[in-house]
Amino acid sequence: MFRPWHQFCLLAALVAGTSAAVAPAITLRQAADPSHVLIGTAVRPSLLSEGAYAATLAREFNMIEPEDAMKWWVTRPNAGTFDFGPGDEVARFAKDHGMKVRGHCLVWDHNNPDWLVHGDFTPAELSNLLRQHITTVMKHYAGQVFAWDVVNEALDENGQVKNSLWYDEPGIGLSKKGTAYIEQAFRWAHDADPQALLFYNEAESEGLNRKSDAIYAMVKDFKRRRVPIDGVGLQLHISQLDFDTTALAANIARLTALGVQVHITELDVSLPLGAGGVAGKDDLQRQAEVYRSVVHACLQNPGCTAIQTWGFTDKYSWIGSHSRGTRGAALPFDRAYRPKPAYNAILQELSQPKNGTQ
Ligand code: XIL
Repeated sequence: MFRPWHQFCLLAALVAGTSAAVAPAITLRQAADPSHVLIGTAVRPSLLSEGAYAATLAREFNMIEPEDAMKWWVTRPNAGTFDFGPGDEVARFAKDHGMKVRGHCLVWDHNNPDWLVHGDFTPAELSNLLRQHITTVMKHYAGQVFAWDVVNEALDENGQVKNSLWYDEPGIGLSKKGTAYIEQAFRWAHDADPQALLFYNEAESEGLNRKSDAIYAMVKDFKRRRVPIDGVGLQLHISQLDFDTTALAANIARLTALGVQVHITELDVSLPLGAGGVAGKDDLQRQAEVYRSVVHACLQNPGCTAIQTWGFTDKYSWIGSHSRGTRGAALPFDRAYRPKPAYNAILQELSQPKNGTQ
């Protein structure tokens, strides 16, 4: 049910303004509660000991995902050892604050340890390693991680399966067989934790293009052949302020019509930085409108069940190093944890009466 007092509290929050670092009268997670969407963010376990970081996180979000802590480079320091320490910290924080955990990611050709990338493994050895990895990690987090990005970024911009360690360099024994290695990973994942929701996560495929067409075709094929897939993650690292949300909505519509969920998994809207590393005021307003329209597109569709930002404070965001310092200010809170216009836009959208929940 949509609660009218939310509107009052929202107004109070907006009147209170965005400049003071005070807690808003209603938070994102309170606003999201009556809807069908989870509101999440990527997190770094090393920052959970920073008071403002932990307090903002616990107050605003009901879902978290480790930005790096469940990737191979962290969980597999060497072939024979698993390190669940950092991932466990994230899971513990989530438990303590009534949040869900999304897992990220089990199969990717990036963020892998050197011993794996340069190990000169045969396809049979790689296949064993991957199966063991998926099985061990998912069993460790069974009951704690409700959804996993099983495979991340496997396609190129033309919709072809990318050449990669897991596909054909040397691959797990299914090279030149298109999406067969992706299918294999999903089958292993389902065996490891039948309760977990299994997602294919991808970049630059939010709208309608060759890559998103290929994802659509793959999911359609998987559903027809009963390959266990539950959802598609659309990353949404946005760098264009004229972002096309009509195409995003159309893509969400066609994917959910196949019977899978969509999660917005890595939303950020990076801005060019001027002198002193500061973003322009107009850009911050336009950024807010991009956030608003993405949240709106998700809320419109009952099959879009989570909206997650890639970090939440401009103090800590991958955009800085990724863009070599030329872009930033991509997230809903500024460096001092003050809500930005983007935050208010998300909050306003989440506080609108929902489809079917009024
Ligand atoms: C990024 C992290 O944010 C960085 O900390 C890390 O150095 C590299 O990876 N797509 C993904 C994420 O699926 O895992 C990436 O995260 C960003 C792009």
